[in-house]
Amino acid sequence: MSRVTMIDIYKHPITQKYVRRSGLAHAIRVADIALELARERNVDVDLAVKAGFLHDMGHYLFYKNGKWDFEEYRTNDIHAIKGAERAHKLLIRLGEEPSRAKEVSMAVLLHTDSYLPAANIQRTPLQQVVADADELDEEPSGRHHYRTITEDEAFTRLHSLDERLEQAVAEAMHS
Ligand SMILES: [Fe+2]
Repeated sequence: MSRVTMIDIYKHPITQKYVRRSGLAHAIRVADIALELARERNVDVDLAVKAGFLHDMGHYLFYKNGKWDFEEYRTNDIHAIKGAERAHKLLIRLGEEPSRAKEVSMAVLLHTDSYLPAANIQRTPLQQVVADADELDEEPSGRHHYRTITEDEAFTRLHSLDERLEQAVAEAMHS
């Protein structure tokens, strides 16, 4: 089975609808950081990049005056739960192996503990890479969700992620 690429993911209508909503620039940056952390920690880079890119796709709109209402967001948020489901559906539709789609989905589910009653999650190395990458790109008051990126730049950076992923997969096969 050929690899589901970042460009495949990017072009899909589910991504266009939901990854844009919470900020394409943040999603790409987290995917980039996840790639570096995964390499350092010997974690599956393909899964880390996919989960990093999709981690916030469960966000609902809590808008007030064109911005998210963060108080309402903190109280009612279940974005990790919705995101886990959306990421899974998206990857299965694109032909990802079910076991890999599950791993990405679980990493999305556990990338934050803000919605859980008790914050004592034991994360796998993959899940920790995604949580750390997200935290490294966060800005106060959710400003990371509003950063902008042009269509061309988004495409170029996702294409570059695909190239680095293919290289990493090839290296792993020969090591
Ligand atoms: Fe995030």
